[in-house]
Amino acid sequence: MDANEARTRELLALKTIAETLNEATDLEPMLQGVLPKVLEALGFTTGWIFLTGPGPRAYRLIADHGLPPALCRDAKRPMSRGGCWCLDAYWGGGLERAANTMECKRLDEARRRQWGETHQISHHATVPLASGSVRFGLLNVAHPEKRHFSPQELALLESVALQIGTAIARVRLLQAQRDQARLEERNRLARDLHDSISQSLFSLNLLAQGARKLIHRDPEEAARALEEIQALAQESLQAMRSLIWQLRPEGLEQGLITALTQYGARLGLTVEVAVTGGGAVPQAVEEALWRIGQEALNNVRRHAGVDQVQVEYGLDREMVTLTVRDRGVGFQARAAGASGGFGLIGMRERAQSLGGDVTVRSRRGGGTEVRAIIPLPAASEGGGEAP
Ligand SMILES: Nc1ncnc2c1ncn2[C@@H]1O[C@H](COP(=O)(O)OP(=O)(O)OP(=O)(O)O)[C@@H](O)[C@H]1O
Ligand SMILES: [Mg+2]
Repeated sequence: MDANEARTRELLALKTIAETLNEATDLEPMLQGVLPKVLEALGFTTGWIFLTGPGPRAYRLIADHGLPPALCRDAKRPMSRGGCWCLDAYWGGGLERAANTMECKRLDEARRRQWGETHQISHHATVPLASGSVRFGLLNVAHPEKRHFSPQELALLESVALQIGTAIARVRLLQAQRDQARLEERNRLARDLHDSISQSLFSLNLLAQGARKLIHRDPEEAARALEEIQALAQESLQAMRSLIWQLRPEGLEQGLITALTQYGARLGLTVEVAVTGGGAVPQAVEEALWRIGQEALNNVRRHAGVDQVQVEYGLDREMVTLTVRDRGVGFQARAAGASGGFGLIGMRERAQSLGGDVTVRSRRGGGTEVRAIIPLPAASEGGGEAP
């Protein structure tokens, strides 16, 4: 292979590495996936990655490739316990940026204790994984009978380590965002539970107390209270079911319209559906419409006084529209904001966070129409293009 060919191969390998790192959203599969590609680019057989922390001198083997049998024995126990010179150097501050060549304490021990085949690997190069001043761990690479790594090899290793460090930082940030979203969802649920279920239980308790006092004095009145208890319990049951159902992530698997139809049915509503246009929409848009649709159906169930509802879904190149319409009692839309409900506000916020909006048209006695419109990213930006 001439120098040009070698250079092309190296650049191609770097490109594949960058792509693998760029697409990943989870740490372990990302590192396990990128390691063989790094080794291939460098022309080495063996490599492993230690992530350090939490706490001082804690580490964990997160990815490995081509380890010799001596290090794989006992479910890779030699790789997960005890200290070694590379980690000592890393923690001691002696492994700042440059990759070094070191003898491997684990392999040395494996040889002395005759743990098995080491494939003549005795030394490895080590490079810290970091992003800015935050350090994550280290990457080791090795090759049979190789005791010295050239400056070019070390430079390539360093450039790959920089990419990996940046990718680890990105994925950690993504994880933190996911945790935050989960926390917010939990808070929302706690609020919903408080608003619907615990208030109903409170009322049920009062009604039951009243009924108990009345049971001998005024049996007819007591019977009415019991009827109320039954109706309220039934309502709470439905509210609880719908909360549980909202929690189930598989709601959207068969598509938004199926999910909304089923959700409506669970609330005791008959959902008439009309769909125009077609194609895929970004997941964030679909999820927002799912939540908006759920709340619109909740409102029909709770406030409209009818059990028929029309859902229209329209999709074209530029936008997606979801309309939920009922012919129920209606309300003064302008005054709704002051009613203390979070539903309409939440719907609007969800749509606006995606550049869209929700409009509500309602008239006393004239029914209610809730329409969410969310723009789609232009097809040239790789967004959901209608077929
Ligand atoms: N489909 C509808 N039919 C009749 N009235 C409605 C309808 N949708 C909303 N409303 C009225 O608008 C008000 C505000 O709705 P919103 O969803 O914001 O709050 P909510 O349903 O009362 O409480 P929550 O915060 O639990 O959703 C309701 O209290 C109700 O009076
Ligand atoms: Mg509501």
